[in-house]
Amino acid sequence: MPVLRSIRERLASERPLDGVKVAACLHVTAETANLMQALAAGGAEVALCAANPLSTRDEVAAALAENGVAVLAVRGESAESYVEHVVALADWGPNITLDDGADLLTLLHQRDDAGELTGGAEETTTGLLRLRRLEAEGRLACPVVAVNESRTERTFNDRYGTGQSALDGILRATNLMLAGHTLVLIGYGATGEGIAQRARGAGAAVIVCEVDPLRALEARMDGYEVMPALEAAARGDLFVTVTGSRAVLRREHMELMKDGAVLANAGHFDVEIDLADLRELAGGRVREVLPLVEQYEVDGRRLNLLASGRVVNLAAGEGHPAAVMDMSFANLALAVEHLALHGDELERRVLDVPKEIDEEIARLKLESLGVEIDALTPDQLEYLSSWGAPS
Ligand SMILES: NC(=O)c1ccc[n+]([C@@H]2O[C@H](COP(=O)([O-])OP(=O)(O)OC[C@H]3O[C@@H](n4cnc5c(N)ncnc54)[C@H](O)[C@@H]3O)[C@@H](O)[C@H]2O)c1
Repeated sequence: MPVLRSIRERLASERPLDGVKVAACLHVTAETANLMQALAAGGAEVALCAANPLSTRDEVAAALAENGVAVLAVRGESAESYVEHVVALADWGPNITLDDGADLLTLLHQRDDAGELTGGAEETTTGLLRLRRLEAEGRLACPVVAVNESRTERTFNDRYGTGQSALDGILRATNLMLAGHTLVLIGYGATGEGIAQRARGAGAAVIVCEVDPLRALEARMDGYEVMPALEAAARGDLFVTVTGSRAVLRREHMELMKDGAVLANAGHFDVEIDLADLRELAGGRVREVLPLVEQYEVDGRRLNLLASGRVVNLAAGEGHPAAVMDMSFANLALAVEHLALHGDELERRVLDVPKEIDEEIARLKLESLGVEIDALTPDQLEYLSSWGAPS
């Protein structure tokens, strides 16, 4: 993670985070460990809990704990223990929160306990939706940097990161052949677009289901078949949900699916596939056929659910590769520095990542890839900044 490494080196020499308590509710992966260490090098006191009970890498949690970072997470923890850990981090009285899904920052709001907060940063679409609702109700108690919306995050993390890692999680769990099979993608947002691209590249036929006419049109013009989910239900070999909404695959779809269909979710919460419907349809005829693959028998057909409907790239794979998390976490590290230095002057709103931070991260990433680019000439700069007709 060369971008984060260079930020870490600067933070270590400038120590802008001395005395700042940073609590992070993020997926406990090796990449997150690098972020924690970068923040600690900048002087912050850091504590970490998981953003999902199934995404923790225990060896990473142990290594961080050995290096003095408080970590409250264990892979496969119960829902109760997951919540206890988020509560413990909130009790610690952080100055800055980092979230992937907004569980920590929304908890502090629910408890009316945002007293020590200078600000927060949010990593994913679902978290931002929740925080924007708080803002709309006039209840957001601190500025929040929308890391998810920065260009170096949105394009690379969502399209390339999830595009690759969601399929990687599915393939690790199933060893399914993509070529010659039909993938039904529900939700053609920033993330879904990446999954569709990568699946097509591997030879799958891709059907897109959408509710947004613009995104549906874009999918059609990108060359995919577009149709309602009910129509696609009988055609798919593999279903991937990534909408941020709930029950997008439910009883009526499950009743039409083929024998052997595989169901996976890449959205943040495990609500996109209606698990209650699936259980009810199977009436107890469920068995684990492979690790993280539960087979539900529905009217003599076998429907295979991956990772209990939890975010598949993290639950069945290792999440995004370090090369892409490098940019996401560079955004988070610089957002923490920005909040520590300027949090008091910022409005209590969901704020964009400053453009300079975005550009700096892209510049560092290009440098690490050994890619050089052009710069505008003085003549071009003058031309682009004048409003008159070209002379
Ligand atoms: N797995 C990961 O690593 C990862 C990475 C980024 C985002 N996410 C999560 O994935 C989800 C989607 O994120 P995004 O950034 O792509 O969001 P987005 O808002 O860009 O896209 C979601 C798309 O789903 C569509 N949609 C909503 N409800 C639908 C329905 N019932 N049927 C069909 N389409 C529907 C929307 O119109 C939209 O185009 C969120 O929960 C986000 O937090 C996961």
